Amino acid sequence: MKEIGLHIKIHFYEMEELPKEERELVERAIAATDHAYAKYSNFRVGAAIRLSDGSVMIGANQENAAFPSGLCAERTAIFAAQAQYPEKAITMLAVAARNENGLLKEPVTPCGSCRQVMLEVEDRYQQPMKVLLYGTDGVYVIDSAKDMVPLSFISENLKG
Ligand code: THU
Repeated sequence: MKEIGLHIKIHFYEMEELPKEERELVERAIAATDHAYAKYSNFRVGAAIRLSDGSVMIGANQENAAFPSGLCAERTAIFAAQAQYPEKAITMLAVAARNENGLLKEPVTPCGSCRQVMLEVEDRYQQPMKVLLYGTDGVYVIDSAKDMVPLSFISENLKG
């Protein structure tokens, strides 16, 4: 028996120290929380993604009385981008969230389904997507979505 340790690298930035391109994307994600339709949870999530041509698209969570019919902010942004601009890779994704007390103090962490979708994006475009997770305390910057999913399952694994 041997033990396998997995190492995850997260850069923790103050908002002010983030490079301009990253900071702007985080600001777009914060603003996108206003677009959430979060009638049931009152948890408003905003996502902003940067495409390979530098353009930005936003997403916000959309809830539904029939619970599973809703969708997270990250996936509304990713799917809209891929539906409209399938030829453009997604290079960065920023996420922010607020509840009735305001913006979250701790960086918001995407759910498992969104992480799986992010992995597919990296697999599809064969390049890493930088992930920026905002909290009022600071921003987690993760170089690649795959760093958030140890022991991930992607198309390569289908080959065995
Ligand atoms: N949600 C997101 O939009 N993104 C996340 O990363 C976590 C959760 C949404 C789903 C649901 O509308 C609400 O937040 C509460 O779970």
